[in-house]
Amino acid sequence: MKMLSVILAGAVLAMGVASAGQKPADDHVKAMKELGKLAGLLRKGVDVEANANAMAAAMKDKVFPLLSAYPTTGDEGLKIAKTSCGDTRKGALAVAKAAAANDKEGIAAGIKAINAGCKSCHDAHRVKLSDTENEIK
Ligand code: HEC
Repeated sequence: MKMLSVILAGAVLAMGVASAGQKPADDHVKAMKELGKLAGLLRKGVDVEANANAMAAAMKDKVFPLLSAYPTTGDEGLKIAKTSCGDTRKGALAVAKAAAANDKEGIAAGIKAINAGCKSCHDAHRVKLSDTENEIK
């Protein structure tokens, strides 16, 4: 009996923790890992035009379609997610354009815009459980 109440208490605790966020779909995690990789390549200046275009495409085709599954937080939460997606994509397109024109300042400005876009969505919707595990709120 004592064992059972310990198990029940554990289950209630787990539910309480889970309500802080929702486990992301595999496609969401995959898209984020791709964005992380592309952001790293852009920072290092590797294949900037192609990788920036790939980032813009990933935002539109892989991340944006998943936003409706966010456990959000009402219209305001969804709006932040959509705006962040749009801002990140605009930053990536600006980087691609600047790279094509060999415009180093333009690339730097675009990367700043990308980082701000990633951050605004992460601040609102990312729950870090550990270095390797994240949820969506
Ligand atoms: C629309 C919101 C949104 C935008 C925009 C966004 N992210 Fe995320 N990101 C999330 C959420 C929510 C999580 C936690 C869930 C997950 O890991 O899938 C996350 C997790 C991550 C992770 C951890 C993935 C893992 O589980 O290993 C990385 C890396 C990441 N994002 C990189 C980026 C980068 C880089 C950008 C910008 C180029 C970006 N994200 C833009 C919402 C966003």
